[in-house]
Amino acid sequence: MRTQVGIIGGGPSGLLLSQLLHLQGIDTVVLERHSRDYVLGRIRAGVLEHGFADLMREAQVSDRMDAEGEIHDGFDIAYDGKRHRVDLKGLTGGNTVIVYGQTELTRDLYEGRDRLGGVVVHNAEDVTPHAFDGNGSPYLTYRLGEAVHRVDCDFIVGCDGFHGVSRTSIPKDVLKEYETVYPIGWLGVLSRTPPVSKELIYVNHERGFALCSLRSQVLSRYYVQCTLDDSVEDWSDERFWAELIARLPEDAAATIVTGPSIEKSIAPLRSYVAEPMRYRNLFLAGDAAHIVPPTGARGLNSAASDIYYLYHAMVDHYRKGDPTGLDRYSERALARVWKGQRFSWWMTRLLHRFPDANDFDRRLQKTELDYLFSSQAAMQSLAENYVGLPF
Ligand code: FAD
Ligand code: DHB
Repeated sequence: MRTQVGIIGGGPSGLLLSQLLHLQGIDTVVLERHSRDYVLGRIRAGVLEHGFADLMREAQVSDRMDAEGEIHDGFDIAYDGKRHRVDLKGLTGGNTVIVYGQTELTRDLYEGRDRLGGVVVHNAEDVTPHAFDGNGSPYLTYRLGEAVHRVDCDFIVGCDGFHGVSRTSIPKDVLKEYETVYPIGWLGVLSRTPPVSKELIYVNHERGFALCSLRSQVLSRYYVQCTLDDSVEDWSDERFWAELIARLPEDAAATIVTGPSIEKSIAPLRSYVAEPMRYRNLFLAGDAAHIVPPTGARGLNSAASDIYYLYHAMVDHYRKGDPTGLDRYSERALARVWKGQRFSWWMTRLLHRFPDANDFDRRLQKTELDYLFSSQAAMQSLAENYVGLPF
């Protein structure tokens, strides 16, 4: 098989890039290790920036997102029993976010790819990028059952998430990695219950962080901070709800509707960036190159900004023969990635209770929160980062 852009990974990054390039007449093949059902079974992000939503519209896969996604003008931070509203719209001169689940967005992208006859190969095993170092033409190999297949291409894009093969194929002496691992995790529960609040509530409580989010008016998504030794089996539904309620402000604790969990998972918290995001004819995008702790809802949105830069660079290359975008991809993408890293790290330090914190750290966190709630400038800074900095 021959294509122009060979994409490893059929998560949101790979599918969005494939769909956008297809609409510009650029041919792609997506190789995904798992089945479609498996990819759609992962419950992850819920909050989208408008820049991301605009890309979905450009990719002609936004109908359901525009009909069913909820526009949120703000959210609450609860601390010391009080709720403080972050008025995203008022603080940013009209910007908001869309609450629409990653599962639904990925489903829309798959449907978009099907509609245009895009090639997405599922259950592709042993996907391997070859000859991307500029000597010879790049190609990918993969295995389906016993048969080994080959895809020749001009460029390879690694959209294969944090545990993918792309990043680790780049020579070790080229790649510089930056990482911080936090000594806590998030236990997430999805339940078919009405959300406790119309808007999200981020909670800093002495028992630990909690987050009340939602997917729709009948589907709630809640998280509580847990330890790294915790496993899902340690957390019965009863224990989860009791812990969540213990951390909520009084009014929310009194009105929350509980019910059986329909999904329960634990995510560790990590900040990670690999530089550069291009090595010759191999490009990295999304979680393949960087990870944030989920607190600031930046992960999927940072992936979307990579796709924005890479998509435009590929179009300039194929349409105008202009290599500037491809040459500057890593630098441009990383400039925004690092701002997302800074914000996620800051939100994480602000809202969690860290087991290794000393008295000084705790007083500083309290001061940071007091300052935030008393300063329009500080609130504005939070808001402009949360709705997403411009691409
Ligand atoms: P992935 O979604 O990881 O997709 C990579 C794909 O590549 C996968 O389908 C995988 O199966 C495939 N793959 C891997 N290895 C190979 C291989 N060797 N060969 C072929 N295919 C391979 N982000 C936000 O912006 N907002 C939020 O509110 C938010 N909340 C989150 C909450 C949680 C609990 C978690 C865990 C994450 C959250 N995120 C959030 C982060 C967001 O989910 C990720 O940033 C996003 O999934 C990145 O998309 P991706 O396509 O780059 O990578
Ligand atoms: C969700 C996840 C986040 O990380 C976040 O900051 C907000 C919402 C969610 O899954 O709904």
